[in-house]
Amino acid sequence: MKKAWWKESVIYQIYPRSFCDSNGDGIGDLNGITSKLDYLKELGIDVIWLSPVYKSPNDDNGYDISDYQDIMDEFGTMEDYDRMLAEAHKRGIKIVMDLVVNHTSDEHRWFVESRSSKDNAKRDYYIWKDPVDGKEPNNWGSCFSGSAWEFDEQTGMYYLHLFSKKQPDLNWENPQVRKEVFDMMTWWCEKGIDGFRMDVISMISKDQSFPDAPLNGGLYGDSGKVVCNGPRVHEFLQEMNQKVLSKYDIMTVGECAGVTIEEAKKYANSDGKELNMVFQFEHVDLDMGEHGKWGDQRPKLSQIKKVMSKWQTELDEVAWNSLFWCNHDQPRMLSRIGNDSEEYRERSAKSLATCLHMMQGTPYIYQGEELGMTNAPFETIDQLRDIESINAYYEMSEAGIYTKEEMMRFIRYKGRDNARTPVQWDDSENAGFTTGTPWIMVNPNYRQINAKEELARPDSVFHYYQKLIALRKQYDIIVYGKYQLLDPEDEQVYAYIRTLGEEKLLVVCSFVKEEVKFDVPEMFAGKDAKVLISNYEESDVMKNGMLQPYEATVWILKN
Ligand code: NOJ
Repeated sequence: MKKAWWKESVIYQIYPRSFCDSNGDGIGDLNGITSKLDYLKELGIDVIWLSPVYKSPNDDNGYDISDYQDIMDEFGTMEDYDRMLAEAHKRGIKIVMDLVVNHTSDEHRWFVESRSSKDNAKRDYYIWKDPVDGKEPNNWGSCFSGSAWEFDEQTGMYYLHLFSKKQPDLNWENPQVRKEVFDMMTWWCEKGIDGFRMDVISMISKDQSFPDAPLNGGLYGDSGKVVCNGPRVHEFLQEMNQKVLSKYDIMTVGECAGVTIEEAKKYANSDGKELNMVFQFEHVDLDMGEHGKWGDQRPKLSQIKKVMSKWQTELDEVAWNSLFWCNHDQPRMLSRIGNDSEEYRERSAKSLATCLHMMQGTPYIYQGEELGMTNAPFETIDQLRDIESINAYYEMSEAGIYTKEEMMRFIRYKGRDNARTPVQWDDSENAGFTTGTPWIMVNPNYRQINAKEELARPDSVFHYYQKLIALRKQYDIIVYGKYQLLDPEDEQVYAYIRTLGEEKLLVVCSFVKEEVKFDVPEMFAGKDAKVLISNYEESDVMKNGMLQPYEATVWILKN
């Protein structure tokens, strides 16, 4: 398999608003990030993926951009950005920018012009349609509730917004739009950034017949089913690759909602014509309810294994996987499929980490995951900040699909704000995140769970992540080895083997608090396998096949 730096890297995602506030306004900022670069260096990560820091009215926390070449006021200035980039590079840390080009903010000058009149030169930068029988052009729903079409009085037409109405979709059919985007990307590359994470990039090419979408139990058509992997998406990405990406030594990861294996083989093919890797979402969509995202049924371990293993084996040698449990759109995986109780939180966090970090692909750590941060105990709607949760709470309860209490329960389990509570730096007020009033509540468990305490304790979750990252640098087999799942139906243990040449790894992770039996595979039984890492001082697995609660142990066999 062809080697590459981005295959061997571990990436750390920063959601700047919630990372570290340097000026006491309650909102994280760029100088706050710069102040924590030594912490990230100590953790050992190679790359930071920075969620959007561009100028934005913040309808969707920066995913609504009003100027791609300027910095959001709350986060600082371009000088602060340049300093952060230089300081990161000084420490050997790369910076990957979030590229949000399926849509802009409605306050972007392109949209302001576009909506001003039907014959404006930028009219065709966005997707405008006449009403059909006095109504929306089709049944598409927005990912943030309601219709995906907004009627604009000024010209009597609808514009498309797959997300909030302050996030109008760009019209990628227009070559001028593509040129603007490619020029902007080039500007950032010339600045010296190291790559792009591409927001909902699988949605940029719309079927020009704009067909209705299936309802799938929702109030509006499930637009994701018709806009993902659209007719020209690969052509557009190849053009982007030729005009921009291929000219720089950068990495790219596409956020590809709705991606299938077949499509991923095109987006992230090792021929390098499009992107380096994709984010797929099958493993985090297993707990969908009958009306879409909202529910609180935990997925079964066997389902998770099935999905992860499919991606592991089918992309092997053809394309490249990204590996993630958490990001700013997902609740904390430790609370979702692990055990966040006081008794088991640390073991369970380490077991989840081991399970993911020993797979083939590039691992992503979401801020606070390395501390074993948990979901937050949101109780009332006014504690929430996320447009998706707030809109859904009202839409679903007003339509009588779920009660308000049910929606609050689902949001507590699945809402995006769970990932967005401030990083817990220490046990001082507001977890050391800010000296002001935080923009969103701090998880009250910060007095027990925080970076200061974990840095000082050798067996903390932090130090376990540090070790996992270091191992990946020492052993090619962790990056490149072939993956083979063991016991697919077992609902308690996730175990698999990796092989590279003569070397073999056995990865065994318990997902339960009971002691459980595990059948050591023949190729390891009675052999002189060495423990690479474990979340217990001693493992009994090779002696009697017994796994301790949430045990995770990895063995290596040289031949
Ligand atoms: C995906 C991003 O990750 C999410 O946070 C955002 O709300 C939507 N795309 C819209 O940009």
